[in-house]
This record gives sequence, structure tokens and C-alpha cells, in this order.
Amino acid sequence: MDMKVKLGFFLLSLFLIPSLGTAARAGGSAAHRNLEVRRHLTRLNKPPIKSIKSPDGDIIDCVHISHQAAFDHPLLKNHTIQMRPSYHPEGLFSDSKQETIGPKPIAQLWQTNGRCPKGTIPTRRTRTDDVLRASSIQTFGKKIHKTIPRPTSASPEPDLITQSGHQHAIAYVEGDEYYGAKATINVWDPKIQQPNEFSLSQLWILGGSFASDLNSIEAGWQVSPDLYGDNNTRLFTYWTSDAYQATGCYNLLCSGFIQINNEIALGASIYPISGYRDPQFDISILVWKDPKEGNWWMQFGKDYVLGYWPAFMFSYLSDSASMIEWGGEVVNSQSDGQHTTTEMGSGHFPEEGFGKASYMRNIQVVDSSNNLRAPKDIDIFTEQSNCYDVQLGKSGDWGNYFYYGGPGRNPNCP
Ligand SMILES: *[C@@H]1O[C@H](CO)[C@@H](O)[C@H](O)[C@H]1NC(C)=O
Ligand SMILES: *[C@@H]1O[C@H](CO)[C@@H](O)[C@H](O)[C@H]1NC(C)=O
Repeated sequence: MDMKVKLGFFLLSLFLIPSLGTAARAGGSAAHRNLEVRRHLTRLNKPPIKSIKSPDGDIIDCVHISHQAAFDHPLLKNHTIQMRPSYHPEGLFSDSKQETIGPKPIAQLWQTNGRCPKGTIPTRRTRTDDVLRASSIQTFGKKIHKTIPRPTSASPEPDLITQSGHQHAIAYVEGDEYYGAKATINVWDPKIQQPNEFSLSQLWILGGSFASDLNSIEAGWQVSPDLYGDNNTRLFTYWTSDAYQATGCYNLLCSGFIQINNEIALGASIYPISGYRDPQFDISILVWKDPKEGNWWMQFGKDYVLGYWPAFMFSYLSDSASMIEWGGEVVNSQSDGQHTTTEMGSGHFPEEGFGKASYMRNIQVVDSSNNLRAPKDIDIFTEQSNCYDVQLGKSGDWGNYFYYGGPGRNPNCP
């Protein structure tokens, strides 16, 4: 039924739009774009078995697992879906132990209105408006260029700040072969000044060089008004195999990530969120390389193995990662000539500590024998510590951890 309605609407617009387009040259290109948008939506939104309306306005479509958009990729036509990883790395910190002493586990908002049946995957439906907010269909679902943190150039040139517009406060390790990473990430809802800015907190699995062929797998939470049309804090993934140029995208917005889980939707709102001097909530994210098949798997919390990025999508990462980063990133567009007021983390500096500043705890890497272990020689990087900062720490329960973030514009960050 749903599919017929959509198809009918699609066919109708096929006939209507070209005739409208003849009215004016400008109208013609708008109509052409409209048609492209519809085609793109048809590619992304597969016919659902069931749909669930989330309180935040999202529609979550339960799509048959073998009909997911990933399988539109020519190289995935004959792919045999892996329903479980052959290996799961064990960590220094038992998840169940953390559960009893740590903050409560987090679910997703849409789940309050239903669940997806087994054999399907929950996918956030992409709407016309979502695509229209992007500068083009080609850029929809992609990170804007120059989002690459370069911690090795620890003294950024003055023009790096104004040109790239991206600001980071991160911890990182490099110089080894890494087969995965894990972090427990405090969840907040930072304020965003401009819709085209974002604030995210994530881990990066990196291989290759930053110039042109960087391979990156990223996962965490983000607030991105342009991508989602609101200020909600959402679970996300990202990948690229060519330094954010032609390949890659957020979530399931292009063929790449193969989802197997029927409970968690990528791009959906996380719930609940931490408050200042209020209860704290966090999410755990583990990304690791399956030593047998070579695929990169992702787990959310202790219960949800979400799916995997097939090994063949990557060049450097088809072997191992050469750098791991954890932390925050915001866009500073300086729309009014001053530093953005877009917040990172909780919007408060690391000095304020638990319940006020955002943290990442139990940060670990997967080593060549597929065990989770404490990262060695952790470094930190931030472009302007007066705007957003990062502070490392170590303790029994939290292992290697750090506080990160800040308010952006303030008297010391004009
Ligand atoms: C898929 O399998 C068919 C039939 O075996 C074969 O002709 C085709 O080349 C395969 N495609 C890919 C991308 O491997
Ligand atoms: C997001 O938050 C900003 C203020 O931080 C507000 O101006 C804007 O209207 C909000 N956007 C939406 C879609 O709610």
C-alpha cells in the first residue's frame, strides 16, 4: 500500500515536473532537481514491511534485511550477508560490570512506539526536505571537505583555522597497527549556532594519508541540523575511502555499511541525554576488524552488533588502521565574523569535570592479537584550547579517559 502510494506519487511527478520545467529556464533546473531528488529518495527508501512513527517526527521503516540499500552496490550484488562476526574482542572492562556501577544504558526514542520484526532492519526514512537542505544531491549525506583532523601538525598555521572551519578536541594514538577501537561516550545535546554547522563526538579509525586517499571509519553521536532537520542528538556512522571526496557517507545514506541488527537505527535520536548537574548517560561503541573475513564490525552498547563495512571497500583499512582518534569536532563557519557559539560536548570546558563536562572513558584499541587493550602513548590535539579543550586522565574504573569540549565563542575565544 505504502509502496503503491509512493510509486504513484513518483510517476505523477515524472509527468508534472517536465511540463512545469518548460515555463522558465530557472524553473526548469529546479524541476530537474526535484526529479533527481525523487529518484534519490526511491533509491534510499526501500519499501518497508512496517513503519514506526517516532515522537521526534522521524519515520523508522523496517526494511527486509536483504533489500537494504547497501546491496545496490555493484560489488555487493552476490554478497553473502554475514549474520555474525567470527570473532569478538574481549576488553579490559567487562560491559556487565560497567552496567551495574555506571550510568543506565541508553535506548533510542523511536522504540517507545514499536519495534522492527526479526529479519528486518530499522532505517530512518529520508524525506524530500532532508535532501533539499543539502547543497546538492551529490553532497547529501556526505561530510563537507576538509574535515580531517591533522594532529601531526600540532602547531596549526594561522590560516588553517579560518580556512577549514573545523575545530577538534581529540585524543589519539598512532604508529602501530590497530584492528579496532572502543569508547564509552557521554551523551549531550550541544547548541548549534548555524544550521550548516554541526557538533559531534566520535571515534575515528584511520588508515592512509590525509591528503587524498585517507580511509576512515567513524561512529558516535552528532547534532547536525542540516543533515536531520532538527537539533536532536543522534547515533551515527561515517566512512570514506578517499579522504571525504567521492566515496562514503553518513549512516545508510549510500551503499557501504551492511546492517544486520533489527533494534537500533543509524541516524535515530538517542535517549536519554545527560544534563548539567543532572543524571549522566553514555553510549559504548566498539569497531573491530574480523580477523577471518576482514570486515569491520560495529557494536553499540553491550547488546547490539549493528553490522559491518565489507573489507573490499577500503584500501589501507583492508589491512589495519594506522591511527585511532577519539573526541569532538565542530564546524566554525564564522557567519558573523566571530568564532561560532556552537558547543562541543556539553558546551563546558574539561576542568569542570563529571556531570558538567563531557567525557569519553575506557578508551581502548584492538591489537594484532585481537584483544582490547589500553592505548599506549596517547596524545591530545586541539586547534584553539581557548574555544574547545581536552584533558587526559586515568583511573581504575574508567581506564584511560578524557574530558573534552567547550562553549566556542567566549571572551578568550572571540
Ligand atoms: C555475480 O554472479 C553472477 C553469476 O554467477 C556473475 O555472472 C557476476 O559476474 C557476479 N557479479 C559480481 C559483481 O561478482
Ligand atoms: C536549533 O537550535 C537553534 C538554537 O540553538 C534554534 O535557533 C533553531 O531554531 C533550532 N532548530 C530546530 C530545527 O529546532
